[in-house]
Amino acid sequence: MKRYDLRSDTITKPTEGMRKAMYQAEVGDDVYREDPTTTRLEVLAAQLSGKEKALFISSGSMGNLISLYLNGGRSNEVLTSMNSHILHHEIGSVASIAGVLPIAIEAPRGVLSAANLQGKVKGGEYDMATTTLVEVENTIGGYCYPLENLEGIRDFADTHGLKVHMDGARIFNAQQAMGIPVKTYAKYADTLTFCLSKGLGCPVGSLLCGDEAFINKALTVRKILGGGMRQTGILAAAGLYALEHHVDRLNDDHRRAKAIAKALEESDWARVDMEGVQTNVIFFTVPGFNTNEVIKELAEVGILANHEGPIVRLVTNLDLSEEDSDEVCSLLKAFKPRKLS
Ligand SMILES: Cc1ncc(COP(=O)(O)O)c(C=O)c1O
Repeated sequence: MKRYDLRSDTITKPTEGMRKAMYQAEVGDDVYREDPTTTRLEVLAAQLSGKEKALFISSGSMGNLISLYLNGGRSNEVLTSMNSHILHHEIGSVASIAGVLPIAIEAPRGVLSAANLQGKVKGGEYDMATTTLVEVENTIGGYCYPLENLEGIRDFADTHGLKVHMDGARIFNAQQAMGIPVKTYAKYADTLTFCLSKGLGCPVGSLLCGDEAFINKALTVRKILGGGMRQTGILAAAGLYALEHHVDRLNDDHRRAKAIAKALEESDWARVDMEGVQTNVIFFTVPGFNTNEVIKELAEVGILANHEGPIVRLVTNLDLSEEDSDEVCSLLKAFKPRKLS
């Protein structure tokens, strides 16, 4: 039985072309800043993000952590969405390592606006933490930030002397879905992280982008965190390959996600958030049925899904072809959940 792994877009394997680029990469010791391929990737990332400089890092979590460490600061507060990755999936490192207290803010679909931030900024009292940073995640749950929200947040941050960090793990999905260049999104943030190892299909790597002074400090914090790596050109070559060959094809993932969401909508057992399917992420519930069992029953027909509580998540990705996507739609149409909740 063929398996269709839709748990995440992180599960993809490097393509032949990418492996070849990795094999052929020119390398040097990047802790000495002598890896030419990594330097090329960092220059390209700076250009794409419209920032002065970029730094190759091991993961999206490391990018968020470095930005929170430098722009948040110990005993200060960061305003973040109730749904954010830093809050739920980075093991509290924002607090335990960066020393920043995250303040979770409720907002529709997790997308913050200046209105959500009103009244949340603290400081000036000896017994209070000071708010230093706003963190936004774009895309969040596959949903793209409207530019007017970012504009409002930037104005709000400037008014209150706050920095803005954008967790753009999937920012290229937003670029392709909305036709808004990464650098346009990035101009509302002081710092941006984007990931190569999600929709772009690389085995490892993220980029942290910001102004020169920030990236120079980030280099030191990366070392503190044990993130100085040596012949990183092998990994950076995968990133360069992905930025050349795998950005436009994100539209395929988005089209397939919409087709799968439609198949779910047409079923008599799933309730799907159609409006939320802007990129490659689909959320649905299975009212009246036990979600743990639904996940197992889907696996029995070859569909691997993730869930958090009652919400099931499917993510289209580079390893799911058009034929695979059609087959997933057929399997979902024929599927019947069995175990009642
Ligand atoms: C929105 C978001 N931010 C950050 C990360 C962290 O990335 P990494 O797994 O590379 O640490 C993820 C990972 O899935 C993510 O989805």
